[in-house]
Amino acid sequence: MKAGATTACRTGLAVALACAPMRIRQAVADDHPAFARLYPDLATGDPTPTFERWRDELAESSVVAEDDGGAVVAYGYAQALRTTGYVRQVVVAPEARGRGLGRALLEDVARRLEAAGCTTWRLNVVPDNDPARRLYRGLGMVDRHATWVLRFPWSIVATLPGAEGVRASPVEPAEDALVEAATGLVAGQLGDARRLGGRVLIAARDAGGVVGAAVFDPRFPGAFPFRPRDAAVARALLEAMAPHALPDPPHVQVVVEENAAVASALRDAGADQRMHLVHMEGPLPPASRRPRAPSRDPLHGVTLEAIVTALVARHGWEALGHLVPVRCFQFDPSVKSSLTFLRRTPWARAKVEELFRRSLPRSRD
Ligand SMILES: CC(C)(COP(=O)(O)OP(=O)(O)OC[C@H]1O[C@@H](n2cnc3c(N)ncnc32)[C@H](O)[C@@H]1OP(=O)(O)O)[C@@H](O)C(=O)NCCC(=O)NCCS
Repeated sequence: MKAGATTACRTGLAVALACAPMRIRQAVADDHPAFARLYPDLATGDPTPTFERWRDELAESSVVAEDDGGAVVAYGYAQALRTTGYVRQVVVAPEARGRGLGRALLEDVARRLEAAGCTTWRLNVVPDNDPARRLYRGLGMVDRHATWVLRFPWSIVATLPGAEGVRASPVEPAEDALVEAATGLVAGQLGDARRLGGRVLIAARDAGGVVGAAVFDPRFPGAFPFRPRDAAVARALLEAMAPHALPDPPHVQVVVEENAAVASALRDAGADQRMHLVHMEGPLPPASRRPRAPSRDPLHGVTLEAIVTALVARHGWEALGHLVPVRCFQFDPSVKSSLTFLRRTPWARAKVEELFRRSLPRSRD
């Protein structure tokens, strides 16, 4: 392996045939074409960020994985916000998936976040995105709350309930910590938005104190985070955002975290729910905190695809269909269809993993 290279698969042996050396490195502005190729796989329906956006905002907080030929086949974008890493995007090219690259990439992200002072990380993911959910769970994240992405024309704002005594106004830098604490924002989120520039930071207050906050980016146009206490505060925040909106397009998008009542009020007013997500979070994995100790589990870090590929290479499909008698090995077998079946059938997967364990050369100690 060349210097600085890592490998998506961490356990050698028979699985080496399913592994290709990868180099994970800091992203640079020139990676935009590769980023633009991968970004649509997030399936957000949002336009691909422009070269300028990538160069000025995303690249500095992103890593890319290159294959042996230097082609970028994956990227991860994560913001370091004081003690919290916010993973915003992770994509592995379809042809490179299922070989441990997503995991290797996120482990690299975790190491970088830790070096920046983070101790935890979090992200939003579509609940039925099984590969991603499994990857994040495997890295120690657990479900925390729901998140909704809603888009609506500015015209519906006036139909939301109004509230007496709620005022929305810009957030001064000295107020960042107070506003973050009062609204459940991640510490550092407002300061990071301020540093990136081009955004309007708004807090809503009533007689009792801060009741909502939003970071509005007119170029998107959208607000993330968007944390009103209730629908009336949502209206106050949106009314304060509206004068900053560009004439086109006539809609705005908001990311509502945790607050089902606000999401429901916006939907009732006619908002289009573009995504329903699960917010996951957890401590940064210990592997990022100390040099990796070799695992005594021979399956540690070995993907299911690598296991099946190695078993087929060793036994052939016919013998494999006798050793583990499941239809996916016996009739018209392929690695792809076997993975689909095994990922949904824990007892069959356990048998396959056991066979793989028994196929390995015995350790000397
Ligand atoms: C999610 C994604 C990044 C995973 O990348 P990857 O390189 O395939 O992941 P890995 O090979 O490191 O796999 C890690 C774990 O994910 C799971 N996984 C991978 N592919 C899977 C699949 N098709 N079905 C179910 N689980 C799968 C596996 O459980 C694997 O662990 P294992 O060793 O137990 O098999 C990749 O599928 C992707 O880019 N998807 C499209 C974009 C996306 O959805 N990004 C996440 C947005 S939140």
